Amino acid sequence: MKILVIGGGGREHAICWKLAQSKDVHKVYCAPGNAGTAAVAENVDIAVTDIAGLVQFAQHQQIDLTVVGPEKPLILGVVDAFEAAGLRIFGPTAENAQLEGSKVFSKQLMKQAGVPTASFEVFETAPDALAYLAAATYPIVIKADGDAAGKGVVVAASLEEAQDAITRIMVTREFGASGDKVVIEACLNGPEASLMAFVDGDTVVPMLLAQDHKRIGEGDTGPNTGGMGAYGPVPGISQDEINAMCDVIIKPVVRAIKSTGIPYRGVLFAGIMLTPDGPMCLEYNCRFGDPETEIVLPLLETDLVEVINACVDARLDQIDVVFSRRSAVTVVLAAHGYPGAVRTGDVISGLEDAVKLDAVAVFHAGTRLAEDGTVHSSGGRVLTVTSTGDSFEEARERAYAALHRIHMDGGQFRRDIGWRATQEG
Ligand SMILES: Nc1ncnc2c1ncn2[C@@H]1O[C@H](COP(=O)(O)OP(=O)(O)O)[C@@H](O)[C@H]1O
Ligand SMILES: [Mg+2]
Repeated sequence: MKILVIGGGGREHAICWKLAQSKDVHKVYCAPGNAGTAAVAENVDIAVTDIAGLVQFAQHQQIDLTVVGPEKPLILGVVDAFEAAGLRIFGPTAENAQLEGSKVFSKQLMKQAGVPTASFEVFETAPDALAYLAAATYPIVIKADGDAAGKGVVVAASLEEAQDAITRIMVTREFGASGDKVVIEACLNGPEASLMAFVDGDTVVPMLLAQDHKRIGEGDTGPNTGGMGAYGPVPGISQDEINAMCDVIIKPVVRAIKSTGIPYRGVLFAGIMLTPDGPMCLEYNCRFGDPETEIVLPLLETDLVEVINACVDARLDQIDVVFSRRSAVTVVLAAHGYPGAVRTGDVISGLEDAVKLDAVAVFHAGTRLAEDGTVHSSGGRVLTVTSTGDSFEEARERAYAALHRIHMDGGQFRRDIGWRATQEG
């Protein structure tokens, strides 16, 4: 099989790396890819939003299967375009990608499907939202409807903060049309977890439960990032509990979508808060998580191509999806300045030494291969270092040992990935 992977981050490197291990795959392309994907795939210089260009490439190269990494092309309708051209692709249609593309759509679907989630109201004008806030209790959560590059959610401690959020989203329109509507919802409490599932339109197979670390600073402090590390499975949460989360949070929306429209195919990812009243859904994403994928795929024992093909052909119920009983930890190496203005072009060394350690993989995110063969940083999150181990502690020690072999000027990483696991485990 010839496979095309769309995207160019750590998630896509992990996907390419896993697909390249399949006996059925003889060629992987990655558009646009990065310096890491170049080692397991052939990079193709097509942007993830260039839908027509991607279709044309897949037709020309007679690609057998396309796997979509990021949400943007899904929301733009890459799956619809590929299917219209008779090409096999793994991911939800544009309509179904609204589960991630619109907070209003996803909250309304959660409510309709009976998924436990924070109570909420939707507002289409600033005066209506402000009037509601004046009589609300605090803290409260405000979410811009559309894509806001991870910055559209504000947990407001006071009326003033909430008013400021409405002004930025709906009046000065910091996120453009993404702020046409807002969701205002009750503030929940508890640790968060990420649950991804393979979905074939009907059958839902949960992956491992993972926890990621969004803040730049140790002890989960400081500004939010795209994610500084992750680990899984989460110690102390049983498979029965994970299945129960899947039953109440993922399966009901898959059923609801199937009954009203085009069945949901692809990865469905739920952001979950483990509240004292049980697990509640914070949001859905319509694709693999990043960096969650970098720990989940190394633990997947079943051939990933087999799983994806079963999803595309709506026969996921006919295969066994098996995960290793080991643990995995991934630590992100970020560039100088991240998550603010980042410096790029720093030389990264020690990559070969790092992967000499057992059970270690380095997935590139923001890297670029220079003409002289050296690897340079080209983005905020530069790479993620993953290790598996028989225990969480073993995986973590090895991931850090590998990271210490890598050098990049100005590189930042958190030394406490998984602190919650050691505290509770
Ligand atoms: N109802 C809520 N109560 C408390 N915190 C929340 C709530 N909704 C979201 N958050 C916090 O905000 C973060 C981002 O919200 P989320 O809905 O996942 O949006 P996005 O990932 O698109 O920015 C969550 O990871 C969580 O920490
Ligand atoms: Mg989120």
